[in-house]
Amino acid sequence: MSDSLGIRAYDYVEFYVGSAKMVAYWYAKALGMTITGYSGPETGVRDRMSYYLVQNDLKIVVSSALQPDSYEITSFLTQHGDGVKRWSIEVDDVDQIFQHAMSRGAVAVRKPNRLENEHGHVTEAAIRLFDDTELVFINRDDYQHIFKPGYGGPVQDIQLSAEDPQLLGIDHIVGNVRENEMDQWAAYFNRTLDFETFVDFKKGDIGTQYSALLSKVVRSELSTIKNPINEPYEGAKKSQIEEYLEQYHGSGVQHIAIQTTDIVHTVTALRKNGMEFLLVPDTYYENLRNREDIQIKENIDDLQRLKILCDTDADGYLLQLFTKPIGDRPTFFFEFIQREGCKGFGKGNFQALFEAIELDQELRGNLDY
Ligand SMILES: [Fe+2]
Repeated sequence: MSDSLGIRAYDYVEFYVGSAKMVAYWYAKALGMTITGYSGPETGVRDRMSYYLVQNDLKIVVSSALQPDSYEITSFLTQHGDGVKRWSIEVDDVDQIFQHAMSRGAVAVRKPNRLENEHGHVTEAAIRLFDDTELVFINRDDYQHIFKPGYGGPVQDIQLSAEDPQLLGIDHIVGNVRENEMDQWAAYFNRTLDFETFVDFKKGDIGTQYSALLSKVVRSELSTIKNPINEPYEGAKKSQIEEYLEQYHGSGVQHIAIQTTDIVHTVTALRKNGMEFLLVPDTYYENLRNREDIQIKENIDDLQRLKILCDTDADGYLLQLFTKPIGDRPTFFFEFIQREGCKGFGKGNFQALFEAIELDQELRGNLDY
């Protein structure tokens, strides 16, 4: 299924990391993903190494530089640390959507490019997003092999056992930008890809006694692509968005939310795999038990034990949980989300979430100006 611009769904996300091989083990072990593809010297690629990991519709690529002159990767890592270099949208026709975006003022990174080998072809193009991120359009309909040309099966015989968290795919991808940039980037999505702004958190909507942020969510015509964009807003102390911008040295992807239909199972499995989550105080669950507007099929004792958050809107509820930053810098993290009709992003949880993040910020020495 696709919309009038030919947009189908999220496809892969590619991270630039210090050591692709080791990070691939982390995804296999912590998220229970399968190492499905590999690209590197053994497949004829000399300057970089990539692993392609899959679980249902969740597709992650981790890449690292093999040579000091692989500037594109090494310069990214020097500045940002491990992070999301590009995320992609599967489309019907790469040329068509790229031309559309360009005619509306998108900044080109790569023109439509056809990668070919004996298994078929893959077409990709990319436009710029934030400081140093790419939004890729991809079509792999005519390719009958692993991921795309340049990839083969994994060369190592990697036998890992991990709990299967039953992750389904990407729900949304969030960007953090500087003060006064949020409106520009929301308008960029809306103008170049016919997205619309459907949530707008204004001054005073989101914040603790210390720090605050502004947030807009843009979405594609059929809502398959949903992208919140945050910017810091003045507060007594440094907000988590400012901490991100400082530590990432620029704007970029803050978190990716991954869908599940059974978050109690998912978080149980992820915790067994060693995933580290934000702490939620027990008072949160005392409040949850007292709320009459919350009708959920899950047992609140389970939610409390696993520290899962709950929020509602007119259409239903959602359950969600956030990891701590997965890398060395306090920048990128994952969210896991189960939607029961609710189309929101957990606004009712921002208070509890921010307070948990502020505790960690304080430990890192990044809360005070
Ligand atoms: Fe989120």
